[in-house]
Amino acid sequence: MNLNIALLPGDGVGPEVLAQAVKCLQAVEETFNHNFVFKEASIGAIAIDKKGASLPESTLNLCKEADAVLLGAIGHPKYDTNPNSPIRPEQGLLKLRKELGLFANIRPVIAHSALVDKSPLKKEVVSGTDFVIYRELTGGIYFGEKKLNEEGTVASDLCEYSEEEISRVAHLAFKAAKNRRGKLTLVDKANVLESSRLWRKVVAKIGESYPDVVLDYLFVDNAAMQIILKPTQFDVILTENMFGDIISDEGSVIGGSIGLLASASIGEESALFEPIHGSYPQAMGLDIANPIASILSVAMLLEHFGLIDESLAVRNAVDKSLKKEIVTPDLKHDSQYGTNQVGDFIAHNIVDIEDDFSVN
Ligand code: IPM
Ligand code: MN
Repeated sequence: MNLNIALLPGDGVGPEVLAQAVKCLQAVEETFNHNFVFKEASIGAIAIDKKGASLPESTLNLCKEADAVLLGAIGHPKYDTNPNSPIRPEQGLLKLRKELGLFANIRPVIAHSALVDKSPLKKEVVSGTDFVIYRELTGGIYFGEKKLNEEGTVASDLCEYSEEEISRVAHLAFKAAKNRRGKLTLVDKANVLESSRLWRKVVAKIGESYPDVVLDYLFVDNAAMQIILKPTQFDVILTENMFGDIISDEGSVIGGSIGLLASASIGEESALFEPIHGSYPQAMGLDIANPIASILSVAMLLEHFGLIDESLAVRNAVDKSLKKEIVTPDLKHDSQYGTNQVGDFIAHNIVDIEDDFSVN
């Protein structure tokens, strides 16, 4: 298969983890005889520094022309301490999501059996966790009208949803549930918010055409509790943009490290794959960032294009690194392996699944 892949390394550890993901894609290309063409562009704080915009026009165009986008991470502390900065790295990512129409963000949360001891939660609680969050990504409070009065004393952000925006992501979530364990949980705040009541109405109606899927509802405050109390109760979680942002970070603690969670953002024509973690600026250049989330984003990319064996080869190679504890220090505090070595190990195990490649 021929694929044009846009690479957006971004900020902090983004370039380091993305480089490992690319190694893995190249290993897949070689092993399975595909042709992947990579083109790189800037986004985030680095793009502001270099080009004066968090999403330069040339980057957007490259992404529009590509079959898929692979992103590292975005954000720099110099902007976090100044929330009034008129230009912020995160705007680049939000604009990219909107411009590419990436309305569904898919975030799997899995407790790998090799890692259940690493979770801050009890082993009995996390064992067997395997759910996926479908987060609406281009609507809601993130994109509603923002206002600040002239005195700068009153501010508002509008949370608005249309039936159409709800229904397109809901269909994807129902289809996923149908192919998994047949359970879909809508997370909302329908006891308070009008927009949540619309979500319930639209989702319940769509549910009628998926008779194999059991639909239930949870208020977001209760969901936040249930996710760490009994994560195994969930199969597919469907939710709006901001609730999804919050509960997916919460979900990331279950597996033992935020450095393990990948995500796919899907639209009608484009798709973007990225780790859910941020730019981790304290670790930049230290060769300690966990590349697995970025590498699992590659597995999601391959699956998106129907390359199932290829995706499995990546996942198996990741499992092997976890089992053999060829991992970064977030997963094993005295580990001598760095970002690059973990990337090399996984890439080599894609090329030759039988080969016991050892890192020295
Ligand atoms: C995420 C991030 C982004 C979000 C930020 C960087 C704008 O936290 O992808 O979860 O809030 O969506
Ligand atoms: Mn987030």
